[in-house]
Amino acid sequence: MIFPTKGFGARNPSLISLYNFHVKTWDVILIGGGIIGLSLAIELRKHRATVLVIERGEPGREASHAAGGMLVDCPLETAAPLQSLATASARMYPEFAHELEMESGMKVDLRDQGAIVFASDQNASKGAHSTLLPAAVAELEPSLSDQNCAAFYVKERSVDPRALTAAAVKTAKNRGVDFSSGDPVTKVNLAHGQALGVATTKTSFAGHKVVNCAGAWAGEIAPEPFPTRPVKGQMLCLAMPTRNLLKHVIRSPKAYLIPRSDGRLLVGATVEEAGFDKRTNPDTIQRLHHAAIELVPKFTDARILEDWAGLRPGTPDALPILGATSTPGYYVATGHYRDGILLAPITAQVMTAAIEGRTPEQDLSPFSPARFS
Ligand code: GLY
Repeated sequence: MIFPTKGFGARNPSLISLYNFHVKTWDVILIGGGIIGLSLAIELRKHRATVLVIERGEPGREASHAAGGMLVDCPLETAAPLQSLATASARMYPEFAHELEMESGMKVDLRDQGAIVFASDQNASKGAHSTLLPAAVAELEPSLSDQNCAAFYVKERSVDPRALTAAAVKTAKNRGVDFSSGDPVTKVNLAHGQALGVATTKTSFAGHKVVNCAGAWAGEIAPEPFPTRPVKGQMLCLAMPTRNLLKHVIRSPKAYLIPRSDGRLLVGATVEEAGFDKRTNPDTIQRLHHAAIELVPKFTDARILEDWAGLRPGTPDALPILGATSTPGYYVATGHYRDGILLAPITAQVMTAAIEGRTPEQDLSPFSPARFS
């Protein structure tokens, strides 16, 4: 039998005999080239697996490209079952980002200034954060207008997801990950009930193990209909009048603001059930722009550089779907909803353990695909 059960050691043929002819066979085929698939591909290569990433479009150009990049890891906003995974991943980020920067030669703009959160009634009661008096808010961010509500300082980072995914694509390629782009996977091929590769609209690929990292599209791949759905987020990007006008991430009930080190400022985001529709709406973009101006009046004349929409992979309980499926050799890592960028490093680590047959360091039972069956 050629399927390794634990690890990817020397016994790892790149060719198998199938129906009397030889086809290239990867240890692991990853469906989806977003930040989850890319991070997992890199981690699997470190464990000596041969890896093919199959992306329906262009790697890193869907939800990962649209994301804001706030590495939110606090009880104010993180669902309780996700807290341990989120905290572990947040701790991994400096090394994760550093490694991608070193291996790709590209900067990912990991920032460590923290966030100022203006509280809605709902989260004000959760406490456990450094409450800021208005004078302290004004000292931290002199350009913020007075919000007349409770404010908290939260120690968390942000990253530029586009730069991060570009660095991850380059790192994966440097490490020998293979890519197929522009041809969606339609189903996982089975033999005697076991995954042995995938079919795309044009061809097939053989692999000992298959992982569905297809984000909002994960539910479209037979045979396991994961209950993922697209949750649209519209955003815009402003040019700050001066590069460091805003240093902290700002979150308020109406909008969040994410400054980048090059002077760009992201304003987000809507949460919409709109199917696979990535169009932006001028009124919605204007509303977000006005919310940014309400927070920082100096943005009144800030130029809009770009607006866009992305499709977060939502699930019925807003938790990711992680682990082995009921089909031997078939795994899933999707449904990261609003936290895909944050959860990429820990997802790569726990999924590599699961795929190798080791016990992951995190309890994956709350995220099991079996909860939907
Ligand atoms: N992670 C930010 C958002 O989903 O809008």
